[in-house]
Amino acid sequence: MASLESYLAGKREAVERALDRLLPPADTPPERLHEAMRYSVFSGGKRLRPILAIAAYELAGGEGDAVMAPACASEIVHTYSLIHDDLPAMDDDDLRRGRPTCHKAYGEGLAILAGDGLLTLAFAIVLGEDALSHERRNAVLRELASANGPSGMVGGQAADLEGERSAPTLGSVEFIHTHKTALPIEAAVAIGALSAGAGEDALAALRTYGRAIGLAFQIADDLLDERGTEDEMGKAVGKDRGRGKQTYPAVVGLDKAEERARGLTDEALAALERFGGEAWPLREIARFIVNRRN
Ligand code: IPE
Ligand code: IPE
Ligand code: MG
Ligand code: MG
Ligand code: MG
Repeated sequence: MASLESYLAGKREAVERALDRLLPPADTPPERLHEAMRYSVFSGGKRLRPILAIAAYELAGGEGDAVMAPACASEIVHTYSLIHDDLPAMDDDDLRRGRPTCHKAYGEGLAILAGDGLLTLAFAIVLGEDALSHERRNAVLRELASANGPSGMVGGQAADLEGERSAPTLGSVEFIHTHKTALPIEAAVAIGALSAGAGEDALAALRTYGRAIGLAFQIADDLLDERGTEDEMGKAVGKDRGRGKQTYPAVVGLDKAEERARGLTDEALAALERFGGEAWPLREIARFIVNRRN
């Protein structure tokens, strides 16, 4: 068993290369739009979502590179969601992935359009992947659309914004976190499994895993907003409280929030029990999510 660190580094490198190939060159007119898209994509994200897609694909018996386009699509949609999340009308952040946010570097109008461009491009990339059968391509597209649209990420972001004006309850925070973060992460795992033609039972187990680590991921993000540093995170910390964000720590406190995240990790690991030793990257990633420093 290789270390998680070298596993992640190897996959990250392959993802970077594929993203570079899939995004239009920066000198494509209109140049500043394509520059802005590349600026936000190539700024050192963890690439967790595409790596989850690849790991699920390999676990489900997928071979070759057919998963790379769907995997990159999940990262491209994620990057769009970050650009819009940072806009003055939303979380109003100046720093992302250790650099000025897209609207700080390119202005608000182009940042909105860079996000729109990335979202649309992600679907075009999957549509253009001939290595996947029509059936698998459709399944991937359905997943990407439902997890990130109004019944997924966009819905969660809307509830997150509206929630700034009301007191959080466990139910309201769970709704926000599940929709804005857990569903897209579950989708990344599912996209990998669907690209490999996984059977129903394996897909269901991987969905349970993805949903649980996805919710744990956002709870960890809430905790890092309280306990992390700007240097390590590459984004401002300590902001959620000031903006009245609905977070787990705001409802149950830091210790209980951490307990919940660890409980979700256990749920995720239990969902993987039907798989053998070859599921080790997914197991290690589940542990990494709650122990990470950025
Ligand atoms: C940040 O996601 C947004 C959340 C869902 C909390 P990541 O922490 O995965 O950000 P990058 O992609 O590594 O920058
Ligand atoms: C955003 O959650 C989740 C998205 C869907 C982009 P946050 O607003 O907490 O993410 P950060 O902390 O800005 O990365
Ligand atoms: Mg937000
Ligand atoms: Mg934010
Ligand atoms: Mg946050």
